[in-house]
Amino acid sequence: MILARRAAAVGAVALAVASLQPLGAQAASTRIVGGTPAAQNEFPFMVQLSMGCGGALYKKDVVLTAAHCMNGSGNDTSITVTAGANDLNAPGAIKVRSTKVKVAPGYDGTGKDWALIKLARSVDRPTLKIATTDRYNRGTFTIAGWGDTQEGAGTGTTKLRKANVPFVTDRVCKRQYGNRLVSKEELCAGQQRGAIDTCQGDSGGPMFRKDDANKWIQVGIVSWGDGCARSGAPGVYTEVSTFAKDIARAASAL
Ligand code: ARG
Repeated sequence: MILARRAAAVGAVALAVASLQPLGAQAASTRIVGGTPAAQNEFPFMVQLSMGCGGALYKKDVVLTAAHCMNGSGNDTSITVTAGANDLNAPGAIKVRSTKVKVAPGYDGTGKDWALIKLARSVDRPTLKIATTDRYNRGTFTIAGWGDTQEGAGTGTTKLRKANVPFVTDRVCKRQYGNRLVSKEELCAGQQRGAIDTCQGDSGGPMFRKDDANKWIQVGIVSWGDGCARSGAPGVYTEVSTFAKDIARAASAL
């Protein structure tokens, strides 16, 4: 549980080499702790991935998620993406298959935790803009997902949950994580006292806030943490602004 992401990421790389098994068992261990149910259509860009991760619609036919949820780059029709419903079992939920995956160039389990999934067809839902500068890497963020509501629960939820968490500086975040934090590629969020956090199963989902035009903008991707919602151990998120150009380029090439 401690070092959850590293273990997961190394596992993902190992699995990618050894086989094409989904990461369900591993990923099933993280969802929102200390949150509340999301309202219908509150976050229409949110998607759930069949291996037990979250994601956001970057384009109508491209999902932005975490590299550690993926088995590697290439053609991949194994992922079912559920969109358009808070309740994964709702009759109106949209289910679309993946066709391809692109994992961040150079991803090796430390930092660079992003990946894109190309969908078999477009989903008629709003997309989520990503931050292209670091100006929004501050303030209060919203997190959302279908992951565990307590550390170690291992079940996730069928209904989307949400919470707000404050930005944590790299300096403060390093009190917990030291050099495990890749400052330029990751940002931290969470109250000093813990209690509210993403958890297993939320990985790959977006962390977002309002921009100056009062529109949602994605600043992070759920990546890892020591346990969930522990005091002094913030959640660690991929710093989207650092990779915005790489993500745009990779999406055009998908
Ligand atoms: N690695 C987890 C997953 O695969 C996400 C962990 C987030 N942890 C945290 N304490 N914020 O679902």
